[in-house]
Amino acid sequence: MGDLEGKIAIVTGGGLGIGSAGAKELASQGASVTIMDIDQNAAESTVSTIRDNGGTAFSAIGDASLSLDCERTVSECVSRFGGLDILFNNVGIQPISSYTNVENTTEEMWDRVIAVNLKSRFLMAKYSIPEMRIRGGGVIISTASVQGQQSAYLVPAYAATKGGDLSLTRQMALDYAEDNIRVLSVCPGGVDTPLWRDSVISSGTEIENAIIESGKTHPIGRLGAPEDIAKVVAFLASDKASFMTGTFVNVDGGIMAKGSWA
Ligand SMILES: NC(=O)c1ccc[n+]([C@@H]2O[C@H](COP(=O)([O-])OP(=O)(O)OC[C@H]3O[C@@H](n4cnc5c(N)ncnc54)[C@H](O)[C@@H]3O)[C@@H](O)[C@H]2O)c1
Repeated sequence: MGDLEGKIAIVTGGGLGIGSAGAKELASQGASVTIMDIDQNAAESTVSTIRDNGGTAFSAIGDASLSLDCERTVSECVSRFGGLDILFNNVGIQPISSYTNVENTTEEMWDRVIAVNLKSRFLMAKYSIPEMRIRGGGVIISTASVQGQQSAYLVPAYAATKGGDLSLTRQMALDYAEDNIRVLSVCPGGVDTPLWRDSVISSGTEIENAIIESGKTHPIGRLGAPEDIAKVVAFLASDKASFMTGTFVNVDGGIMAKGSWA
């Protein structure tokens, strides 16, 4: 029996990267998982892998920045599996054209990054919480970032969403503790995902070299793998973390311990 046997979960952005690894880990520990993603092929690939390994999953295709798609995802999950216990609010984007200062950030880009990375947290929680209450409680976990705590250069929209994510986590933890709903964030360091690789490729850096060099900036000496984050998410979702709420866990190979020292 896994730690999450009988639990029902939704993972946003579950088609690729950290979300896909998270969905697979939750399923491997016994949860039935709804994979919400805008990319149908990616979502169905995660679903297939879970099913091939004996797990239970289905895909809900939609845009996590849109209220109707979030509401439909929750209701499809509930009608398919009978409820909802775990929301992994993971989806996130960092478009190449968002790597600039505030003056050169277009309003459209600002709005899109805020909508996908932060508004999605609010929308998915808004529709999930009533279903968790019916089940007597639940867990909401978001993928924030070390960039919610410490700044890099020229990522204003992304950084704002990650700071907002941590603040929303604290807020919801207070407001829903009496409903037995725990709210937590994970803060990854660099993780080798399509999002991370896209940013490397656009900067013109050779990928294998970037993996090594970026790995060296983490005290542990390597980049994270999506599975490194997924295992912590599954722990936080389980009863083993029943006294944890309103906080975040760095899963960053020591980046935050190092701070700004070279
Ligand atoms: N990779 C890293 O180094 C890193 C570090 C810190 C935090 N994070 C955070 O981790 C989370 C996941 O990042 P990742 O690196 O796995 O990204 P990724 O791009 O590899 O995967 C993101 C997934 O989200 C989906 N998606 C994108 N926009 C969507 C939308 N509007 N609606 C529904 N699905 C959508 C994509 O199709 C994809 O399947 C993000 O919140 C990101 O900010 C990543």
